[in-house]
Amino acid sequence: MSGVLITLEGIEGSGKSTQMAILADKFSKHKLSYLCSREPGGTQLGGELRSLLLKPHPSGEKWRPDAELLLFYADRAQHLEIIIRPALAAGNVVLLDRFEDSTRAYQGAQGVPEKTLTALRQIVLKELRPDLTLLLDADPAKTLERVNVRNCEEAGFAETRFDQEGLDFHKSVRKGFLKIASDEPDRVRVIRADENIEEVAKNVWSAVASKLRAAGFL
Ligand code: TYD
Repeated sequence: MSGVLITLEGIEGSGKSTQMAILADKFSKHKLSYLCSREPGGTQLGGELRSLLLKPHPSGEKWRPDAELLLFYADRAQHLEIIIRPALAAGNVVLLDRFEDSTRAYQGAQGVPEKTLTALRQIVLKELRPDLTLLLDADPAKTLERVNVRNCEEAGFAETRFDQEGLDFHKSVRKGFLKIASDEPDRVRVIRADENIEEVAKNVWSAVASKLRAAGFL
């Protein structure tokens, strides 16, 4: 049996990390084994790329959008070969906090052309696509408020580069995600993230459970 790849996507502050933790708990309760990882930073070297990508550099120098794109893809190429493909080949369920749709939404919003994004996807992902993507959709005007509070509470927390982009940027990221969802309705399930946590978790589990049932895991 080959595995199942499930990804969680959404803008900053959409509650992905909370939902990932609840989902992982559900897997444990159902005695389902799974592998949970994230991008960027799912491998040792990827962790270093994550710091490079997300920490604002003291010099103030910023990554060019194309340089940034290649770093996200370097992280992904490493993650795919070391972690994701072997886990799927061994028949595991793999849960990922962000994957290729984040690149399309965020780097797309930075102005990287769609054909460049598609070309890189072909080179690195080849035929691989998530079996299910949960898009936690929320209004950035509300989620950014939450993110700013979180960053203030976690004084010294340095991974704030994208959080600090303006509202227009995040609106455009959201638009990018929603376009992917409307282009690929069979793969991407849009879940409203502005409901209470339990309601969102219920919708997440319902989508995941039906995919797992179809794949013979439940
Ligand atoms: P993270 O702390 O994981 O953000 P969040 O808690 O909101 O999930 O940081 C990942 C950041 O990197 C996030 O702002 C989105 C961005 N990103 C890209 O721009 N491109 C990508 O391909 C990926 C995977 C993430």
